[in-house]
Parts: sequence; structure tokens; C-alpha cells
Amino acid sequence: MKTQTGTDLALAAKLLTENEVVAVPTETVYGLAANALSPQAVVKIFEAKQRPFFDPLIVHIAGKSHIYKYVKMLPAALDKLADALWPGPLTVVAEKKASIPDIVTSGLDTVGLRVPAHPMLQQLLQMLPFPLAAPSANPFGYISPTSAQHVYNQLQGKIPYILDGGNASVGVESTIVGWENGKVIVYRLGGIPIEIIENIVGKVEVRIHSSNPKTPGQLDSHYAPRKPFFAGDIYELLEKHAGKKIGLISFHNDYKNDSIIKNWKLSETGNMNEAAQNLFAIMREADTSEAEILLAEFLPEAGLGLAINDRLKRASIQ
Ligand code: TXA
Ligand code: MG
Repeated sequence: MKTQTGTDLALAAKLLTENEVVAVPTETVYGLAANALSPQAVVKIFEAKQRPFFDPLIVHIAGKSHIYKYVKMLPAALDKLADALWPGPLTVVAEKKASIPDIVTSGLDTVGLRVPAHPMLQQLLQMLPFPLAAPSANPFGYISPTSAQHVYNQLQGKIPYILDGGNASVGVESTIVGWENGKVIVYRLGGIPIEIIENIVGKVEVRIHSSNPKTPGQLDSHYAPRKPFFAGDIYELLEKHAGKKIGLISFHNDYKNDSIIKNWKLSETGNMNEAAQNLFAIMREADTSEAEILLAEFLPEAGLGLAINDRLKRASIQ
């Protein structure tokens, strides 16, 4: 199959209507989309990504007014979050209706829903009479794509079309929230900082590394580059790996050491939003560089720093 890249919304809509998969831009990362109501379309997502069927997909809708076609009810706290933060990088998990096929949710009785903010995807969703199931458009376990080129590099030949919406403006995946036993639970740290969520609904429980079967997708080995990757204290890591050709990813610091062949900075000015935007592109660049091993430092544990550090930890060899 030949993979085309372009900005033709009508073509993307036509392919999706014919049960094909199309890579689409979102403000977080690129997604690999298919008609969420069609099991035969959704199965193609799993095939193209080589994603295990136990990892549920997020369903993208044009606006909040559509949710009751797909969920039985939205707990008040999640309703409040959706009102405040949609369209945007927030996914809410709620009890699903039968309209959502089991393949989308890996047999769970809940579904993750999101209203994306990217104008091109917004327009596409408004053209379609069905919602779009879409995981990140990367091979399972690899770094998420934040540009059409990233998607092309890895999925060419496997999908017919990539809708090019430029570089993702947020750069990390959505924050995923649910409701259990009267509490808001954060299942994945992401593009909406936890502080913003807590400002709206009060204290939440963060439960990201659990082996809870409700979050099967939160596997530890995710976002992983092919080269050995270690995140932590840079001076300790430099000592441990002295003599290797080291590629280093820092927030904004310049590290000097004979072993370092390149030092990528996530943001020259120490801007957290910019660091998130650049994270996955820099991880990919480092992964295809001359370096033998990659080291990364953690960012301050606040705002988007929490989501970035979570990605660095998952990419790391423990
Ligand atoms: O920003 C994003 O969320 C991007 C863009 C494309 O929208 N999508 C994304 O999808 O990151 P993906 O497949 O890479 O991650 C989806 C994750 C699953 O791995 C799982 O952890 C969680 O969402 N998830 C989906 N449905 C769930 C459910 N019913 N309960 C708990 N977690 C769920
Ligand atoms: Mg993913």
C-alpha cells in the first residue's frame, strides 16, 4: 500500500467512511484513527500498530454534546472537568453504552472519550457521522509521533493516508481521568497539568503505575527508544557509562564531559511547554544519532514536568 501525506480532509473522510485507517493530527500527538463504531475498521488500527488487543483505545468526538451516545452517565466531577477543559488534552473514562464495540475498550465496561482541540481534526470530526477511535500513531511501545513525518517514518506502507496538521502543539498525550469510589483518579499524567485539574475538582488520586486491570495500557515499557536509555542524575550516569558515546537530553543545562557527543536541550529558555513540545522529536532524533547510549535528566516535578518525567521513566532501562 502506498502511503500519501496531505491536507485533504475530504479524502480523509472518504477513507474513514470506507473503514480505512487514517493518521490524524491532534494537539497532543498524532493519532491512528478509524470509525470507532465499526469493529472491522478498528481491527486495522491494532494491525498497523501491532498493538495487543488488551490495550484499549481512546474515542474522539466533535463536542461534549455527543457523549451520551456513548456513555451511560458522566459523574459530576468529570462533567465539570470536561466543561472546563474540552476541547483539549483531557480524556475522561466513564461507563460505556453498547454503541461502543468491545474491541475499542478491550472488553472493559468503560470507555475513554476526548474532544480534541486541533482545528483540522475538529473539522474532520464534524464532517463524519461517527466518532474516531485513535491511539497514538506509533508502533506499539515506541515513541509517540508529533509530526506527519514521524508517522510516515514508521507506518509508511501500512496505512493509506496521513493528514498533515503540522507539529503537535502540546507534545505529550492527554491526561486520563476516571471516577472510582467517589474520587477522581488520574490514570495517566499528560497535557493537562494535575494542578489545573485539582483547581477544578479538588484533590485527586494519581494511579499510574498500578497493575490494575482497569488501566492495561499503562505498561511500564512504553515510549522506549531503540538505543539504551537511562534517565536520572546526569553526573552519576556519566560516571557509570564513561567511555561510551553518549547522547544527552537535558531540560536547558549544558553538560560538559568528554563522553558526550551531543547535548539536546528540550527548551533553551527552560520553558516547560516548549520542553513538552520538543520531547518526542528530540527522543527520536537522539535515537537515530551516532550515540551509543542516551541519558536524560528529569525536569522539575510540577506542571507538565510530571508528564515529561513519566515518559522519561517509562523510556528508561530501570
Ligand atoms: O492524547 C492522546 O490521548 C492521544 C491522541 C491520539 O488522542 N491518544 C493516545 O492513545 O495517547 P494511546 O492508545 O496511546 O493511549 C490510550 C490509553 C491506553 O493505553 C489506556 O491506558 C488508556 O488510554 N485507556 C483507554 N481506555 C481506557 C479505559 N476504558 N480505562 C482506562 N484507561 C483507558
Ligand atoms: Mg500511545
